[in-house]
Amino acid sequence: MSKVGRWIDERTGLGGPVRSFLNYAVPGYVHKNALYMLGGLTLIIFALQAFTGILLAFFYDPSTEGAYNSVDFITYTLPLGWLIRGIHHYGASAMVILTALHMLRTYFFSAYKKPREINWLTGVLLLFLTLAFGFTGYLLPWDQKGYWATNVGTRIAGSVPLIGDALMQLMRGGANLGQATLTRFFATHVLLLPATLALLIAVHIFQLRYHGMSPAITEKGKKEGGKFVPFFPYWVVNDAIAGLGMLAILIFLSATQRAPLEFPADPASSNFVPRPEWYFLFYYQMLKYFPGGLEPVATVLIPLFIFGSMVLLPFIDKGEERRPWKKPVTTIAAVFYIVVIVVFTALAL
Ligand code: HEM
Repeated sequence: MSKVGRWIDERTGLGGPVRSFLNYAVPGYVHKNALYMLGGLTLIIFALQAFTGILLAFFYDPSTEGAYNSVDFITYTLPLGWLIRGIHHYGASAMVILTALHMLRTYFFSAYKKPREINWLTGVLLLFLTLAFGFTGYLLPWDQKGYWATNVGTRIAGSVPLIGDALMQLMRGGANLGQATLTRFFATHVLLLPATLALLIAVHIFQLRYHGMSPAITEKGKKEGGKFVPFFPYWVVNDAIAGLGMLAILIFLSATQRAPLEFPADPASSNFVPRPEWYFLFYYQMLKYFPGGLEPVATVLIPLFIFGSMVLLPFIDKGEERRPWKKPVTTIAAVFYIVVIVVFTALAL
């Protein structure tokens, strides 16, 4: 240990825990498979979002009069403002993609099975919180796109039987979109969601460390033999290199295509066609198939069914089999959802 390290250890006792964190034994099959990087990359992109989000908050004005101009200032005037906003903007999409891919990896590898149920359940919540980040962040520039998409989004919440009105009022802070809505979305986006997400990630990672990685998908009963490698440097270096690659892509996107900002929100405009961020397009498309009285099927029944089946999954699929090709029900279900999401997104585009 270095002199500085010893000095800190003598005063805090942190040396032991840090060392055992870094020396943690990771199975060889994990270290060699890029699919196991997806969770780490999701963690890195969350850290990047938190960092760029804090920088943005120094210049963002969360008022209906000032929000648009402050985002315009960040994008076009503030030195490197385009880069900070660009990374945050494209990073949001990257986080949704990575969270979804990481979930698919754990799903197809049956990593939700006993004793990792809590790991899976915290993951399900993390997925929905990630989407909530996207939904609340969309309004903050207070431009036409964000305003009208939030108008529709909160109206959809309003169509939920019995509690719809109260839910919409809670989200909007009144009957219509205004300062109260922006304040609530801002507080949710920069305080409530980051705090909850960070807490859940801590539980998620603690669970991971407690149980270790799930077994490789080998034949039933056959143990995956092989070596273990320490978490540091093997896994850390892999993820750090992949993280730098991801950062390079985000910088490239930010430089070649400025994060969009449309005309300022105009509650009086009647011809603006609301459209959500691309990762909600499939849902908007689905709503079209359930008009009028059928709307609650799309706003309540289907989301509840999907959330419920994700929550119940580890308690239903309890067998030892982990190979996706030997588990047709779970595999076909996932492929069905993926196809529906891709097709609906394509139709909406
Ligand atoms: C902010 C979002 C998330 C972060 C930062 C995160 C982070 C991680 C990390 C670093 C790992 C270990 C590496 C790996 O398996 O790739 C992991 C494992 C795991 N994650 Fe996540 N995760 C997130 C979301 C999710 C979601 C949405 C699910 C599923 C619904 C999920 C379920 C799991 C499971 C079951 C494991 C254990 C994997 C195993 O033992 O093989 N996670 N997570």
